[in-house]
Amino acid sequence: MRLVHLSDIHVWRIPRNPFRLAGKRLVGATALLLGRARRFRLERLEEVVERVRALAPDHLVITGDLTTLATPEEFAMARAALEPILADPARATVIPGNHDRYTRSATRDRLFEQSFGAFAPEGRYPWLRTIGPGTALLGLDPTRPGLTARGVLAAGQLARARALLEDAGPIPRLLVACHYPLAVPPAYARALAHKPLVGAGALLEWLEGVGRHLYLCGHVHETWAFRPSAVPDQLSLNPGPPLMSDPDGQRPPGFFEIVLEGARVTVVRHEWTAGAWSARPFHEERFFFPDCPVDES
Ligand SMILES: [Fe+2]
Ligand SMILES: [Fe+2]
Repeated sequence: MRLVHLSDIHVWRIPRNPFRLAGKRLVGATALLLGRARRFRLERLEEVVERVRALAPDHLVITGDLTTLATPEEFAMARAALEPILADPARATVIPGNHDRYTRSATRDRLFEQSFGAFAPEGRYPWLRTIGPGTALLGLDPTRPGLTARGVLAAGQLARARALLEDAGPIPRLLVACHYPLAVPPAYARALAHKPLVGAGALLEWLEGVGRHLYLCGHVHETWAFRPSAVPDQLSLNPGPPLMSDPDGQRPPGFFEIVLEGARVTVVRHEWTAGAWSARPFHEERFFFPDCPVDES
C-alpha cells in the first residue's frame, strides 16, 4: 500500500486586530507580524494538494500543525484547502499539533475536532485504527495549550496505548502517529530541545519493546528518516513542512510518499525545487517488517 505523510502545513492568517487578543495568542500573533509565518507560502498549498491528489495514496496521514494560531478562520482555511484530498475519512488520518491547540479557548471549543475530527476514530486518544491489510496506525496526542511549545504525554495515555496493542495482538505492520518526535538526528537536537515532549523517555522505553514500527511525526521543521539508537526497531519519519520558503535551496519544502510492500519500506520525498516538483528516493529498508513477507505489488 502507498501512504502520503504530510505535516506542519501551518495555514496562517493575521488577525485583524491582534492586540485585542490576549496571552498566548498575542505572542503568536506578534511572531506572525514579525514574519515567522510569512515563511509559509500559502499560495503554494493548492499545488501541494494537487500533487497529493494525483498520487492517489491508499491512505493520507497528516501529523499536525495544520494551523498557526488555531483561530476558527485558520481551521476553515485549512479544511477548505485540503478538501480535495480529504474526500474519504476512511482513507485519511489527521492528528493535531501543538499549534492546533494554541489557546485554551481553541482547545476548549474543540476547534481541531470540529474541522478534522472525522479523520480519526471517535473518542479520546490514543486510538488504533486499521488502515490497510495487516497495517494499523496508533494515534497519540500529547498537545496542550500553554505558554510553551512543549507537549506532555499523560501517563494514562501511555497506559491505554499499551493496553490497545496488547488487546490487538500481533500487528504485522505497526505505524505510530504523534506530532512530537521522540528522538531526532543529532543535527536537530537543539531544535527539539526548545520544544520537547515531556514524558518522551517513558514512551521511547515502551516503544523499544513493541517491535518494528514506523513513527510518523513533524513539529521540528526538518526532514529525516532515521533509526534512533535508543529504539533500533523504530524508523522515525519527519517529512518536513510542505510550504516553507527555501531561499538558499538547502531545505526544499515537500512531503513523503511511503510505499509498504511486504516487508519493504520505501520512502520517496516529493520536493518543490526551482519552481517544480521532483520525486527523490529518500530511504529504503528491504526487510523492515519481518512479519509481513508477502509482496503485495
Ligand atoms: Fe510546526
Ligand atoms: Fe509543532
